[in-house]
Amino acid sequence: MDATTVPCIVLQHADAAACEALTRGLSALGRVERAGSLPHALELTALNAAACLLVDLPDERRQRTALAQIAAAYPRTRVFVFAGALPFEAVRELLRAGVRDVLPLPVDAPACVDAVRDALAAAAVPGRLRGMSLAVMAGKGGVGCTTLALNLGAALSAHGAATVVDADAPPFGTLGVAGDLDSDGTIARLVRRRLPIEPGVLRQSAAAHRAGFSLLGLWGDPDDAAEMESAMPAVLDACTALSSFVVVDVGRPVLPVQRLLLRRASQVLAVTTLELAALRNLQRLVETLAAEGAAHAAPAIVLNRTAREASYGIEQAAGALGRPIAAVLPYAETMRARLDRGELVLEVEPQHPWTAAVRRLAGEIAARRREHLRTVLGVSGGHADGGSPGG
Ligand SMILES: Nc1ncnc2c1ncn2[C@@H]1O[C@H](COP(=O)(O)OP(=O)(O)OP(=O)(O)O)[C@@H](O)[C@H]1O
Ligand SMILES: [Mg+2]
Repeated sequence: MDATTVPCIVLQHADAAACEALTRGLSALGRVERAGSLPHALELTALNAAACLLVDLPDERRQRTALAQIAAAYPRTRVFVFAGALPFEAVRELLRAGVRDVLPLPVDAPACVDAVRDALAAAAVPGRLRGMSLAVMAGKGGVGCTTLALNLGAALSAHGAATVVDADAPPFGTLGVAGDLDSDGTIARLVRRRLPIEPGVLRQSAAAHRAGFSLLGLWGDPDDAAEMESAMPAVLDACTALSSFVVVDVGRPVLPVQRLLLRRASQVLAVTTLELAALRNLQRLVETLAAEGAAHAAPAIVLNRTAREASYGIEQAAGALGRPIAAVLPYAETMRARLDRGELVLEVEPQHPWTAAVRRLAGEIAARRREHLRTVLGVSGGHADGGSPGG
């Protein structure tokens, strides 16, 4: 469930006074929809993709079957039933039907509200425990997005499972060439075949790079992009369920669906060189994204190929972009040939200052992830033991 959406709670209970008390208490947790009957409650649940459904225990078998069907069709909906003392068989039937909790009669409104609050909190945790997505973008082509995405994926794989996704506007993605890999197929092809976008399915279409990370192509055909728009949240969910770190090579975000990837990213890395054209275009891109709303996280600036095309200084670039510089990657003479041969600088030149800078960036990202996990899990962040690799 999206953290920004208000959860919908569907309530059906025969006692009007208890219903009033419940509605007052539950309103603090979400939008309460009241139903007069079980069929009405099920209809509201389906229409609203409700986070919670609270209903009287249906005494007809047919209605209990309908309740079980709703629970199966909407696995994210937590189902509660109001019931008096129940025989063992009845409890077992409810558990099998996917009911999460039985709320005793007569209704104790504050206790019911607590149970719903716990269920909502538990539902919110898995999303927040998922891996982080890092979108790599630029305002100008050729500044080093693909090189950074690949090498950052390799550097992050030392801290946890990492996947690099090619999301450059189709058909211009070059990740397969740079990673020296033949990916079995794109995610768009799975979507076209109406296959469920689940972690297991994605794992099968990912290619394994010898440096320890996985590589996924989002699409290949220019027509794929529009088709992918509605599937994108599911794609990102599946990727972040598969890997602690999902590096998305967006390049120039010219398509609406690429902007969606930026909006949903845990962190956006904006790559530029110190050339006027690259700096100016990045500035325009950052302004455009800011104008699109606060949904975009402020990007972290990565300066690439410094010392070579140094028309501007690092301070000047930071000033012009109005943001601090997250990483400075020096010019690396041998880079071009390496990319063509599908070699990772990180692997073949472990001592290069460029490699050291990318590893440092990966270390900072991994530290942020550990800190986030500690906060979500409520465990203390006091140990300076380096922590264990995330997820
Ligand atoms: N730090 C660097 N030093 C020297 N060459 C570099 C450096 N970073 C990238 N390059 C070279 O610049 C070229 C462009 O790099 P890359 O393909 O990663 O950029 P890109 O932003 O993904 O480009 P595109 O717009 O085509 O997607 C490549 O030949 C690469 O080897
Ligand atoms: Mg590229």
